[in-house]
Parts: sequence; C-alpha cells; structure tokens
Amino acid sequence: MSNITVCARFRPLSSKERRDHGDAVCIQYVDSETFIFKDEKAEELTFSFDRVFYDKSEQIDVYRHLAQPIVRDALNAVNGTIITFGQTGAGKTYSMEGPGVLECDAVKKGLLSRVVEGIFECTKSSDETSKYSIKLSMVEIYMEKVRDLFDLSRDNIQIKETKTQGIMLNGMMEMTIKDPQEALLTLSKGIANRAVGETQMNIASSRSHCVYMFTIQQESTKDKRARTGKLNLVDLAGSEKVEKTGAEGRVLEEAKTINKSLSALGNVINALTCGPMGRGNHIPYRDSKLTRILQDALGGNSRTALLCCCSPSPTNSSETLSTLRFGARAKHIKASPRVANEDRCIRELEVFTPIKRESRDKLLNELQENLDIEHVQKLEELFIQEGILFDPCSIEESELAYEDVTSQTISSLQLALEELLSTIGEEELQHILFDWCLCYQVLDQSLPNFQSQLGF
Ligand SMILES: Nc1ncnc2c1ncn2[C@@H]1O[C@H](COP(=O)(O)OP(=O)(O)OP(=O)(O)O)[C@@H](O)[C@H]1O
Ligand SMILES: [Mg+2]
Repeated sequence: MSNITVCARFRPLSSKERRDHGDAVCIQYVDSETFIFKDEKAEELTFSFDRVFYDKSEQIDVYRHLAQPIVRDALNAVNGTIITFGQTGAGKTYSMEGPGVLECDAVKKGLLSRVVEGIFECTKSSDETSKYSIKLSMVEIYMEKVRDLFDLSRDNIQIKETKTQGIMLNGMMEMTIKDPQEALLTLSKGIANRAVGETQMNIASSRSHCVYMFTIQQESTKDKRARTGKLNLVDLAGSEKVEKTGAEGRVLEEAKTINKSLSALGNVINALTCGPMGRGNHIPYRDSKLTRILQDALGGNSRTALLCCCSPSPTNSSETLSTLRFGARAKHIKASPRVANEDRCIRELEVFTPIKRESRDKLLNELQENLDIEHVQKLEELFIQEGILFDPCSIEESELAYEDVTSQTISSLQLALEELLSTIGEEELQHILFDWCLCYQVLDQSLPNFQSQLGF
C-alpha cells in the first residue's frame, strides 16, 4: 500500500491578474515540495506535496515526476490514472495538452504527447519476445452524459462494473494506434469534438471532463501469454464561481453540472479518507458519472497521480486554498495497484487439472479433425482473449466472469462467428459451441442464454 501521488502546479500570473494586482502572489517558495500559502486574511499555511511546480516549471518536469513512473507501470500491466484538477483557468488543459496536442515545441508540449512518446519508447526498448498493441479511446462527461469523442452519435455511454475488469464503458470506440504520429492525430480529432466555451476567466474553458484511455496489450511470443495495462489521463473541467466567470444560459447550466460533479468527487475523497476503514464505510461513487468512472483510480486499484493546478494570484486565493485542501486530503488515499486481470485469467488456465487439460486437448484434436486447424485456433484464441475460459475449479468466480464477458464481447464474437459461419455453416458451428460448453461446464449452464444473445 502506498499513497497516491499528489503534486501542485502554479501557472504564471495571467495578464488580467497582473493588471488587477501587479506582481503580487499568494505563495512563497520553500523548496521543491513545500511552500507557504497566504490566505485572504494574510494568514500563513504551509503545504507539502510530492512535488511543487512553480511558475517557471517546465512541462517535462511535470511529465517526469507525475507521469513517467505510471507509464512504465502501465507497460507492465499495472493500471494507472493521471488527473488534473483545479479552478477554471488554472492550467489543467495546458498541463495535459500544452498549447495544443500537435504542438511541436519540445519545451511546451504537454503530458499527452509525452505519454504517447513514453509508451512507444518503452515498447521499442522492451525485449524481442514482447509484442505490443496499443488502443486509444476518448470520452467526455458533458452534462452528466458520457459521450464518445471519436463517434458523437454514441452520446450516452453506460458505465458498467465487472468483477474481473473493474469499471468499463460499454460500446465505446477503440482506435488502434501504431506510432506516435498516428496517436497524436487521433487525439487531436477527439479533442476537436470536446465541449469548450468562453468565460470571463478562460477563453477556451473546458466545459466537460475528458478521459483519454490508452489500453496497452503485451503479448509474449514465447508462451503466448497476454496482459493488458490501462492508462487513463483525466482533464477535469474546472470549478468556478459563476459571479467571476460571468456564466449565463447554457454556460451557467454547464457550470452547475461541473460544480456538482466536482463536489461529488470531493465527497468521495472525504469518505475515502475520513470514514471508518473497511466494508462499513459507504463511498458515494454512484453520485456522479465522474466519480463512477474514477472509482478504480480512487479506490486504490490503480496507480494514481493528481496534479492540483492553481493560480498564484491573491484574487484567486480562496479557490487556490480549496484546491490545495482537496489535494492534501487526496494524499491520504492509499493505493495498492494490481497487475491487470487478463494476466490472471490466463494464469488461471495454467492451473487446469491434468484431467481437464486432457479433456480440452482431446476436444481440440477432434475439432481439428473436422475443421481447418486455422479455424479451431481462431476460436480458441478468441475465447482466451476475451477471457471466456476460466478455471472450472472456481465456479463462482467463473460464473461472474462469464456473465461479464458475455455482454462485453458479444459484438466481437458475432463478427468472428459470421466469418466462421460463412465458411463452415450454422449446423457445424452449433456443434462446436455445444462441445465447448461441455468442456467448460460453466458455459454449459449458460448455453441457452449464450445462444440467444448470439442470435441463434
Ligand atoms: N504553466 C503554464 N504556462 C503558461 N501558460 C499557462 C500555463 N498554465 C496555463 N496557462 C495558460 O492559462 C490559460 C488557462 O489555462 P487552461 O485552459 O489550461 O485552464 P484550465 O484549468 O484547463 O481551465 P478550465 O477549467 O476552464 O478548462 C491558457 O491560456 C493557458 O495557455
Ligand atoms: Mg481545461
């Protein structure tokens, strides 16, 4: 168990802040982890975080301290989440994207493009027996609806929780990315779809919470084992005082929804850090889409880093203080990230008893006699990849896992089945399915349900 990483970042004073208050700032440097904050009554409070980035800090420092260790872990199938949090106009999107995700200036580019480079560098330097495939999804939570930024027609994506894979988003687009250039172009297309609006505090204010999801699958060519790490980057919409942002009409409605979900996030952090430990303590993850999506990251199943973005100006000191208090509280969250589930599923296969292994091999041989070997392998690979094969010794776990994967994988199975159907015909395929279900008794109990979902 370790605490989540929390850093604070102060952007340079904006021209408006300089106009109103000159060079005055509400913080005083102590060292790279500690600073003194002066509140509205000029009282001094000392804050310490894992790292403090002051106005002259460089984007690369933020990447190195906040993101690089998490990127490396994600390549080893440990899920990670990096969140930017803070008042509107405080530098969350700047930290995440830089001046733009396609920014070429090596100094200015943000976390996203550095994460992309980091992922591809790690995949290149890994040993030759590992093969990686990287996928990217992007969603935003806008007015309490989860929208797919790669396909705006998917504008109300449902959030699901599964025992084996944690929080999942049903039916969102996943783009396969082969190199950093392709990744950045894909990201820029998604970002162009994000809801942005002008307020008095930020001419390009994010009006939604945006989640960038990288799925990194590593397959060992030696033993065919596959494992997956998920890396989420979350650029939150900022908290705002509507009298300062001058929000009205639609922008006001957006502000209310943003503030509500951020207070739900605060409540979750409070419940995680104040209440009694253990099962008795209710954590209100379901109070907002944001907290539900961040459930794994906040609940300790993932390596999590939080960047608290702040204005250094005395005009914003009350908002800065609440951001810092939020970060200080979040620092108490304990995390114990696990190696991702797929690896476990595949390892479970390895504990098959000799009799069950024999029965599986016999069945595969029989199938191979009747079918093209390629089709049998394809079917087996598909079932393994989708986690349908589990240790039959652990029926309870398998049933739950099966329920989960059935709904998640139905569309990819249908595609593969269509392909098989066109080659071998429906009758033959029914036979195969039946045989598989006999072999894996768990499936057997669910055969009618399985068949009906496949449209048989
Ligand atoms: N570290 C920084 N260096 C230089 N400029 C910065 C920095 N951080 C933020 N800015 C500038 O401040 C302005 C507001 O930043 P940004 O849009 O990132 O705020 P935000 O926290 O995402 O706000 P919102 O919640 O409204 O989306 C932008 O013009 C941005 O370029
Ligand atoms: Mg923003």
